[in-house]
Amino acid sequence: MRAVVCSAFGDPSVLTSAEIAPPVVAPGRVLIRVRAAGVNFADQLLIAGKYQEKHEPPFVPGFEVAGEVLECGDGVEGFAPGDRVMAMPGVGGWAELAVADAADVLKIPDAMPFAEAAAFPVAYGTSHLGLLDRARLAPGEVLLVHGAAGGVGLTAVEVGKAAGALVIATAGGPDKLAVATRHGADHAIDYKSEDVRTRVKELTGGRGVDVVYDPVGGAIFDASLRCTAPDGRILVVGFASGTVPAPPANVLLVKNLTVIGYWWGAYRKLRPQAVRDSLFECLRWWEEGRLRPHVSQTLPLDRAAQALGLLKDRAATGKVVLIP
Ligand SMILES: NC(=O)c1ccc[n+]([C@@H]2O[C@H](COP(=O)([O-])OP(=O)(O)OC[C@H]3O[C@@H](n4cnc5c(N)ncnc54)[C@H](OP(=O)(O)O)[C@@H]3O)[C@@H](O)[C@H]2O)c1
Repeated sequence: MRAVVCSAFGDPSVLTSAEIAPPVVAPGRVLIRVRAAGVNFADQLLIAGKYQEKHEPPFVPGFEVAGEVLECGDGVEGFAPGDRVMAMPGVGGWAELAVADAADVLKIPDAMPFAEAAAFPVAYGTSHLGLLDRARLAPGEVLLVHGAAGGVGLTAVEVGKAAGALVIATAGGPDKLAVATRHGADHAIDYKSEDVRTRVKELTGGRGVDVVYDPVGGAIFDASLRCTAPDGRILVVGFASGTVPAPPANVLLVKNLTVIGYWWGAYRKLRPQAVRDSLFECLRWWEEGRLRPHVSQTLPLDRAAQALGLLKDRAATGKVVLIP
């Protein structure tokens, strides 16, 4: 089968397109013909050897796929060849065929396009469990989403709205903010040209926000500390800016703030049922029209390095998807 192979740690130029042996269908696992595969910021970290979960080269990257079931390993129940599914194979998704544990496979609605399904589990899974379970976002609360036109950020806007919050989106530039607004954001702040703390205070009558969703880190995290209401929660999702923030404990103490560390990937092992239940709810919300996955670019599989470049250059909105 054709696959994208990372043969040494490095930048995306280490990726090659190669013919390799198809994966073996072990007991409890499902073989999928990949019709679309999601691209994530974390793929660049994995390829660089800087991700929290290490895979030694050579390996095939790709955390998430959508396609049809080809074969089920011994002991697999609930799936049959031909089923349309989304899956989280761990790695191995950027290929014509992928295998995943049956627990990491979900059937998708007949009407859901494969590109949307491949863009779905990591981003919506992260935002739904993070906001509703980790941050306990409640209806009527004010949610501030940074990087709100990015992969996880845009889904946080939609999940926040579906959960009944008022959503303030931040992003770099009017085009990105227009995407966040189209996906439900009530207010938009351009962090390239506006002071986030001042604008949030204006929009909230001086009070600040209840919950912050932060996949960016760096200076924007520091700004969040200054515009989160007393008793507020800041969900630490990632560090797309490249800078890991160090929250000053005195500010947390004085304002009764909670900074919540959050890695969805760990919950896939620690709390697998919670992750599945969360994704099932997202799929129900998709069927009700409350979630609308946004795929800004689709590229052929052998252009994976270019796909990662779009994320690095901040040239994508929502998700980028590879098509074998
Ligand atoms: N905790 C978890 O479980 C979890 C799950 C998934 C992802 N993540 C993390 O969340 C972060 C975002 O992931 P993603 O897949 O949504 O990425 P993405 O689609 O590339 O979005 C990242 C956003 O961050 C903003 N950004 C700010 N500074 C940037 C920089 N120097 N380079 C690139 N983007 C920058 C960009 O928006 P502007 O141009 O508008 O600033 C961009 O839209 C990553 O750190 C990822 O590892 C964490």
